[in-house]
Amino acid sequence: MQVITMASQKGGSGKTTLAGHLAVAAGRAGAGRVVVIDTDPQGSLSDWWNARTPETPEFVQTGVSRLAHDLETLDSMGVDLVIVDTPPAITSTISQVVAVSDLVIVPTRPSPHDLRAAGATVDLVERAGKPLVFVVNAAKVRARITSEAAIALSQHGTVAPTTVHERTDFAAAMIDGRTVMELPRSGKSAGEIAELWRYLAERLSGGRRETMLTAQGERAPAHKRSVLPDAATA
Ligand SMILES: Nc1ncnc2c1ncn2[C@@H]1O[C@H](COP(=O)(O)OP(=O)(O)OP(=O)(O)O)[C@@H](O)[C@H]1O
Ligand SMILES: [Mg+2]
Repeated sequence: MQVITMASQKGGSGKTTLAGHLAVAAGRAGAGRVVVIDTDPQGSLSDWWNARTPETPEFVQTGVSRLAHDLETLDSMGVDLVIVDTPPAITSTISQVVAVSDLVIVPTRPSPHDLRAAGATVDLVERAGKPLVFVVNAAKVRARITSEAAIALSQHGTVAPTTVHERTDFAAAMIDGRTVMELPRSGKSAGEIAELWRYLAERLSGGRRETMLTAQGERAPAHKRSVLPDAATA
């Protein structure tokens, strides 16, 4: 089982948007049984999941203090991938989540404020000795600052080769629990997310992408509920 954590001190960088989208993209790419976890008191990812009709990804209600234990349970239940959303802060919560992660994704908008804020997140992830990938998110099409941001970020860590652009379909899709891949006409946004997931899957599997993409996990339960027996869904 692999654990991906979305983290960035900066609010509104795209943690929740990318958490939901990557969870769905991973499932569609054959990553197996995918679970999302929301550790943000704002509960945006929980709200998205509750508004959602499809049965996947699965959702687990847990707390940071129980997280390591619950992840062990999920692993023993045959879950293949867990994506954890976190609040926009540098707190002990984030450190505890990062500590149990295989990969930390730091979504960053190509703006001076976001770039300046990225350093604190990088320090935290580096202290934990975890691999980090920046994803440039909500970039304006053909804006020069996008490549400048990627260059600036690359001095602090790996930057995903796929940039996610600013498009209204990301917000529109999430209102009723969907992703851009699930809109009637899925377009460029869906392509970017699929491409981003392919890159991340390759990272996670240390280059052995086939294993990750063809692994077939157990089927999700037939009705929507938390996959942990003792936990209530949000
Ligand atoms: N690529 C994008 N294109 C257009 N809008 C986007 C994009 N990514 C995120 N947004 C919008 O930006 C806002 C913030 O995104 P999101 O909630 O994912 O960020 P966050 O990092 O989780 O925020 P917080 O720090 O408050 O948890 C939302 O309204 C979302 O719809
Ligand atoms: Mg969020």
